[in-house]
Amino acid sequence: MSFVEYSECIQDGDVVIVFLGHESMMPLQVQKGAQTQTRYGAIRHSSDLIGRRFGSKVTCSKGGWVYVLHPTPELWTVNLPHRTQILYSTDIATITLMLDLKPGAVVCESGTGSGSLSHAILRTIAPTGHLHTVEFHAERSQKVQEEFRRHRVGHLVTVRNQDVCRQGFGVEGVADAVFLDIPSPWEAIVHAKTAIKRQGGRLCSFSPCIEQVQRSCEALQAAGFCELSTVEVLLRVHEARSVTMALPDFGPQEDHAHFNPAPSNATATLKTATPPREMAAHTGYLTFATKERE
Ligand SMILES: C[S@@+](CC[C@H](N)C(=O)[O-])C[C@H]1O[C@@H](n2cnc3c(N)ncnc32)[C@H](O)[C@@H]1O
Repeated sequence: MSFVEYSECIQDGDVVIVFLGHESMMPLQVQKGAQTQTRYGAIRHSSDLIGRRFGSKVTCSKGGWVYVLHPTPELWTVNLPHRTQILYSTDIATITLMLDLKPGAVVCESGTGSGSLSHAILRTIAPTGHLHTVEFHAERSQKVQEEFRRHRVGHLVTVRNQDVCRQGFGVEGVADAVFLDIPSPWEAIVHAKTAIKRQGGRLCSFSPCIEQVQRSCEALQAAGFCELSTVEVLLRVHEARSVTMALPDFGPQEDHAHFNPAPSNATATLKTATPPREMAAHTGYLTFATKERE
């Protein structure tokens, strides 16, 4: 198992995502001889997981069942241990598209945080690209390195435990793209410029507040970046369902020559798709910019 390559069967040491039912999942590291308790009973790793195909339905000791899924960056994003705020798939999709990330790309990122975005970047740039990610919090940088190793993507990423605003990314002229998710991105813009290739590249900065965006845009312009644009991405999920509605009664037919009124108790069942009354809205602003060829 690797987060960048699909495997057929579960092996000792793999990470699997246990799907317990609608919107309930948990990550699990497979270990010969171990057991994991769920609300449906125990999962015995040796007999229930090792050698089984990813996607299998596994019956737990109390008779209930779960699905064991191959990990993906999207599943990791909704299952990872939160050490910080993280980026979610809606923003990640836009970042991946607008930074033109693809296999072989070299990317610089800071901060690494909980590694939600990092895993998505790694899957996109594999098998020949590289991610240089900078995190100044020592424990976070150590934990995320362990996860990269466990997820068998360690060869695609270098984690540096340093302050990106003071020490930069530790590389010069190699990056196709730079991504910033730090409180003061304007302080890292000159280092981003240094990290990007002489042929040019793209930059994205994620900030929750518009004041941060304003300062970042000033720093981007001062550093000679062009094509600045800021977007906010909102996801609206429509719920599809059947509804039964009373048909309107327009009274006796002779009064409504052009209508065909329904009997007063008539109903119709319709399919509808309704937007939610409430939704998770603002996450942050994504500011994009281009460094032109030097
Ligand atoms: C919001 S989190 C990043 C979350 C990450 N994008 C994800 O999807 O999991 C911000 C991280 O940036 C780190 N950070 C803040 N300022 C930094 C700096 N100047 N240099 C390096 N890391 C920094 C913080 O320690 C924190 O872990």
